[in-house]
Amino acid sequence: MDSIPANRRLWNQISSAYQHEHDPQIGAMPRLWGMYSVPDAHLHALGDVTGKRVLELGCGAGQWSRALAAEGADVVGLDLSEAQLAAAGRAMGAGRAMGASRYALVQGAAEQLPFAAGSFDLVFCDFGGLSWAPAHLAVPQAARVLGRGGRLVFNVASPWFEACYDEAASRVTTTLRQDYFGLNTIAEDDGASSYQLTYGDWVKVLRGAGLIIDDLIEPRPELETPNGYNETDPPDWAHRWPAELLWVTHKP
Ligand SMILES: C[S@@+](CC[C@H](N)C(=O)[O-])C[C@H]1O[C@@H](n2cnc3c(N)ncnc32)[C@H](O)[C@@H]1O
Repeated sequence: MDSIPANRRLWNQISSAYQHEHDPQIGAMPRLWGMYSVPDAHLHALGDVTGKRVLELGCGAGQWSRALAAEGADVVGLDLSEAQLAAAGRAMGAGRAMGASRYALVQGAAEQLPFAAGSFDLVFCDFGGLSWAPAHLAVPQAARVLGRGGRLVFNVASPWFEACYDEAASRVTTTLRQDYFGLNTIAEDDGASSYQLTYGDWVKVLRGAGLIIDDLIEPRPELETPNGYNETDPPDWAHRWPAELLWVTHKP
């Protein structure tokens, strides 16, 4: 199913409220991963980006892209939603981007990347295009635009977190609610879709695109770290079980 139009519509609708609620957390410091803002300095997923050609898949308001441009990377922030890109553009225009000249915004879909093969040294996202596009379409596209030795690094919700999500209570609990093998397409508001794979299917789709898996990091927030997006019961859920998967891969 083509979820591009519905996902674009959803993100255009929610962009303003989403940024109002989450921008302070996402942009609090450079390089914060995921729902618990775990610093990359603890996880070492991205490495040095100085002088690298970087593509962020689903950049939202560009908090990550701006930070990497300021570190000396040449960054393209791609997003499906013009409202999200407008938020990124405003933030850039407000002078928050020290590396603004190294940073471009492009509207597009992770399923159909508008770039030539081998254009980037690093493709990455944090709950971006690889959460909102079918992986069997988006991963081969990411692999295509990477040069040899280039890395694909991305953070998504774990199947544990998704399978334990209680729709009725709008929170993650310790009870399995969804079938692990049936996660796949997750219905979001207004006909939009996000996507989830089993561990085995992630391995298949990454290897199938010719990528080497270097690491699977399971970010573990410290006790008491709040989840900025979802309620969990117990509150320390993610300290006890993995809420996110941070895949680190490269193209040989
Ligand atoms: C949760 S945000 C991730 C951005 C940022 N890391 C953040 O946490 O706000 C998801 C982003 O993915 C974008 N998106 C949704 N579907 C997409 C697709 N098929 N291709 C590229 N971007 C997409 C949305 O517009 C949105 O900006």
